[in-house]
Amino acid sequence: MEITIAEFTMDHYEAAIALWKATPGVGVSSADEPAAIRFYLERNPGMSFVALAEGRLIGTILCGHDGRRGYIHHVAVHPDYRRQGIATQLGDRALASLKAVGIGKCHLFIFPQNQTGITFWESIGWDLREDVRIMSKFMEVDDGSSC
Ligand SMILES: CC(C)(COP(=O)(O)OP(=O)(O)OC[C@H]1O[C@@H](n2cnc3c(N)ncnc32)[C@H](O)[C@@H]1OP(=O)(O)O)[C@@H](O)C(=O)NCCC(=O)NCCS
Repeated sequence: MEITIAEFTMDHYEAAIALWKATPGVGVSSADEPAAIRFYLERNPGMSFVALAEGRLIGTILCGHDGRRGYIHHVAVHPDYRRQGIATQLGDRALASLKAVGIGKCHLFIFPQNQTGITFWESIGWDLREDVRIMSKFMEVDDGSSC
């Protein structure tokens, strides 16, 4: 079966949000509304990818940077297509895009109970950090949503 990796565009949005909502381990929030994803893709061109097979979207990765570090979100592969190296390919493409603009370190957030996700990332050379915690602050923004 042929798997194609393509740049994530808003044409993929509906299939992507359906996959994210159906995938335990992917946290969906107001930051995944169409306008927010459009803003993200415009800020980080050529860094987010989809995997396509048999005419359907079967995998995603969102990737961007803040000028200093890269960040990856929403890595998901449809259950019918796992263990075929698809997430590995998506990760490779995202990291290559960061490297191409001079970003040499990338972080991601993962739920501590997501052992499959942790095993996957470790298998492709990522280190699980025990020395940092995440702190977050929510703010009202002009459109009334938070992200
Ligand atoms: C994690 C996930 C993205 C992996 O996708 P995938 O396309 O199956 O991953 P790959 O085929 O590229 O796996 C590469 C390697 O990771 C490891 N791995 C992946 N899934 C694994 C599993 N369920 N159990 C053990 N090892 C696993 C293996 O070493 C695998 O190599 P192998 O198949 O040759 O043994 C997929 O399981 C998924 O969508 N999970 C739910 C969402 C999620 O947890 N995303 C990550 C949150 S940041």
